[in-house]
Amino acid sequence: MLVDTFGRTATDLRVSLTDRCNLRCSYCMPPEGLDWLPKPEVLTDDEVVRLVRVGVERLGITEVRYTGGEPLLRRGLAGIVRRTAELRPRPQISVTTNGIGLDRLAAPLAEAGLDRVNVSLDTLDPEVFRRLAHRDRLGDVLTGLAAAAAAGLAPVKVNAVLMRGVNDHEAVPLLRYCLDHGYRLRFIEQMPLDAQHGWTRAGMITADEILARLGEAFTLTPDDPAARGSAPAETFLVDGGPGTVGVIGSVTRPFCGNCDRVRLTADGQVRNCLFATEESDLRGALRGGASDEELAERWRAAVRVKRAGHGIDDPAFLQPARPMSAIGG
Ligand code: GTP
Ligand code: 5AD
Ligand code: SF4
Repeated sequence: MLVDTFGRTATDLRVSLTDRCNLRCSYCMPPEGLDWLPKPEVLTDDEVVRLVRVGVERLGITEVRYTGGEPLLRRGLAGIVRRTAELRPRPQISVTTNGIGLDRLAAPLAEAGLDRVNVSLDTLDPEVFRRLAHRDRLGDVLTGLAAAAAAGLAPVKVNAVLMRGVNDHEAVPLLRYCLDHGYRLRFIEQMPLDAQHGWTRAGMITADEILARLGEAFTLTPDDPAARGSAPAETFLVDGGPGTVGVIGSVTRPFCGNCDRVRLTADGQVRNCLFATEESDLRGALRGGASDEELAERWRAAVRVKRAGHGIDDPAFLQPARPMSAIGG
């Protein structure tokens, strides 16, 4: 088990498969992109599967989420998913993606054993999409979403980050669109994880603001809080249900006390928190010939020292050196 000194147990493993992306969302990275990890530093497919197997077999991991950057850019993704689905006890397997390429990949990924996808969709306006993501790909995202639903990757969840003066007028249309298509929309407060360090508290659209805006068009009633568990999203029934909307208030409504996550970066570093300032090198140990149990022990030690929370409100808060795209959301 992966237990920390506050008694939390990590059972949900988020694995970044690449730090590269085919979009440039401004809350994440600059238009020119970043210095990507050199290939030799990135874990091979076999190395990823070995570490996930250690997590599942020795450390109590029950859910595995593949992220990026953009995980669909990883050529071996379907094979990695297939081999993850062969592990016992079989974990739940999901992917968080920007949706580009899902039109082609949703069916083979479902066939390989993928259970669910979460897709980022911040706008329904092609012009706003181009401004926000610096690429003209809105159509690809929408067809990707439809393909995911058609492939049975249910429930399809949609993530939207609202930015002031960019897409914050779209909360209501985004929710209408997702309700109409059967997608579960969650609005996410923007976090200080962008590579440009451009985040400001004043710029952030808060959970309260999101709920106020939605409240002008819909009646929202809180869903059973007991059903939330360790999920980052607070869920609301829309107009009495069955449709729902979620709000992930990472900054103003932190859920660190119930956190059950641990992260593995594309270059094989364990991070015990999205906002961790230290990492533990599993790749070096693995390539140096460590046994499964030695890897597991290193991993346990990394989680044990997890801090109580992200500390964004602490005056001494420091944004982690790695940006979101290299941590894996
Ligand atoms: P589900 O199990 O499908 O609900 O997954 P999820 O919502 O945890 O995953 P997803 O990758 O879709 O992430 C949605 C948002 O939640 C992203 O902005 C993540 O960065 C944020 N998030 C995920 N895990 C954590 C976490 O441990 N801490 C914080 N603060 N935010 C997180
Ligand atoms: N703050 C909040 N969410 C973010 N995401 C990317 N960068 C940020 C940020 N700075 C979201 C993406 C994706 C999910 C993994 O994280 O939109 O849906
Ligand atoms: Fe790519 Fe996701 Fe970052 Fe957007 S948020 S640039 S889709 S990694």
